[in-house]
Amino acid sequence: MCGIVGYIGSREAYPIIIKGLKRLEYRGYDSAGIALYDDGTIKLSKTKGKVEDLESKVQNEISTHGTLGIGHTRWATHGIPNDTNSHPHYSNSGDLVIIHNGIIENYESLKNELEKRGYSFKSDTDTEVLINLIEEIKKNSKVKLGKAVQIALNQVVGAYAIAVFDKNKPNEIVVARLGSPLAIGIGEDEYFIASDATPFIEYTNNAIYLEDEEMAVVRRHKKIKIRKIKDDSLVSPYIQELQLNLEQIEKGGFDHFMLKEIYEQPHAIRDTYRGRLLSDQAIIKMAGVEDNMKTFLNANRIIIVACGTSWHAGLVAEYIFENLVRIPVEVEYASEFRYRNPVINNNDVVIAISQSGETADTLAAIKLAKASGAFVFGVCNVVGSSIARETDAGAYTHAGPEIGVASTKAFTTQITVLTLIALRLARAKGTLTSSDYRKHLIELEMIPEKVEHTLSSDSLVKSIADIYKSAQNFLYLGRNYNFPVALEGALKLKEISYIHAEGYPAAEMKHGPIALIDENMPIVVIATKKGHYEKVVSNIEEIKARKGKIIGIVTEGDTSVKNLADHVIEVPETLECLVPLLTTIPLQLLSYHIAVMLDKNVDQPRNLAKSVTVE
Ligand code: M6R
Repeated sequence: MCGIVGYIGSREAYPIIIKGLKRLEYRGYDSAGIALYDDGTIKLSKTKGKVEDLESKVQNEISTHGTLGIGHTRWATHGIPNDTNSHPHYSNSGDLVIIHNGIIENYESLKNELEKRGYSFKSDTDTEVLINLIEEIKKNSKVKLGKAVQIALNQVVGAYAIAVFDKNKPNEIVVARLGSPLAIGIGEDEYFIASDATPFIEYTNNAIYLEDEEMAVVRRHKKIKIRKIKDDSLVSPYIQELQLNLEQIEKGGFDHFMLKEIYEQPHAIRDTYRGRLLSDQAIIKMAGVEDNMKTFLNANRIIIVACGTSWHAGLVAEYIFENLVRIPVEVEYASEFRYRNPVINNNDVVIAISQSGETADTLAAIKLAKASGAFVFGVCNVVGSSIARETDAGAYTHAGPEIGVASTKAFTTQITVLTLIALRLARAKGTLTSSDYRKHLIELEMIPEKVEHTLSSDSLVKSIADIYKSAQNFLYLGRNYNFPVALEGALKLKEISYIHAEGYPAAEMKHGPIALIDENMPIVVIATKKGHYEKVVSNIEEIKARKGKIIGIVTEGDTSVKNLADHVIEVPETLECLVPLLTTIPLQLLSYHIAVMLDKNVDQPRNLAKSVTVE
């Protein structure tokens, strides 16, 4: 996690870095800091808190003049969030300064070594160890900063994206990456450095994404040279043209990014299937699937690896693939899979799902699967992300930037991509008749409209949120395709309102959770038609008998649940496998409104970060 930003050029660095840090706050927001070079000195200011706290502190502490600088927004790993542990960190001499996103695992032994050589440390961070290691190497080996960084990085174990500068060499910033993302924006005689491209999108559309184990010395007025950290070999830089635009990363009149992203779903889902779903020709075109059709069709099973909301999308996909394609599917938490010595063979297809494409556990699971001979297919949102590059093939969700920490449009667009893949495979395998196949295509194409319609229940959902905002616990129940939706609804509520919530398959209720039910317990039951509707209705009866408060998510025109539930929210009718794309919408809105009513920071909930690049 953590966001890093840097600038070198002829403009004032301060406003560029501060604005960039605000865009990267989704990556971590417990402290922030900045170091600027001006007239032979480093001006450094840092603080616990958000970037706006940093801005206030800077006013009283330093002048903001300078055309070279680095900035950081932190998600604490080593050392509590406080002013001292915030980045940037100085080296002991005060000549060097660093920002870092990642973890140096062997920092303790390096620290002991450095202490023996007289170094002292102000913070509890691994990063301060790294900058002093660089200083020690630079001093002892009498090498330039770039070389010292390279030697130091060959001694560290862990993950990093770093930016370092030396006050005696004010025309360069040294950057490097392993396991944490780092992009270099290339402007007219100026360079931008950032964890992703959002901080520099209004200045340039050209960017280089460093690969793992690469570093660069970014020099004023000079072309970028990229080297392999291990063997010093030169790498030809690949300059990508970015598709992002500024509007996509701003709130556009909404109070929060999360609400904007909830409302963007009709559009995002359309973007996901645009050019892929050609219903008039009854065709699905996805190059990554087409090119690997044999591998998919010969697969013994599909293993899906992911974390959090992406894992929930994986669970939905398990139902979709097994029903439509009749291939066995296992869905694994990437964090468990990577460490449990799983049995994988070269007839397995692994699908890795990740919005950010940077989640450390998912990335590690991919590497493990590849090493075991499996073909790995990625479903990512962020173009050019580490997971997108690490996988053998893949499909982007094209949801556009998701800034709110609580994932919303990522979930529905992941399900859309996975549905497209399943339908394409089902057609190739013959597990769907051509008329059923066409029916699915037509219905999928109508989903954005139906999501739009579902969003019109917003004020109803808000009034329900008002009634239950003070509840201590929530239960979410669903069966079949709606079981993962129940999990996702509970996760959304937990992460942004800090209310305890659990998701369960509705029938599991009687094996334990039923004991929790009393007149104070709100229970969200997803009870759409089909999907064992009658059985879910029986579960609702059981809740009613125990005086639980029932919020039913039902199909339009439903009467049975209406008679039993305290509240109902309707969604349009659709095919069973597409139902999650609709039932998830009121649950997103419910959690959003409760969190707003409780005055929580919806877009940046406590302790969380948008992309989890540490394990
Ligand atoms: O970027 P990814 O999809 O790999 O992220 C996985 C999880 O960290 C993420 O879904 C997380 O659970 C969200 N905060 C959920 O809203």
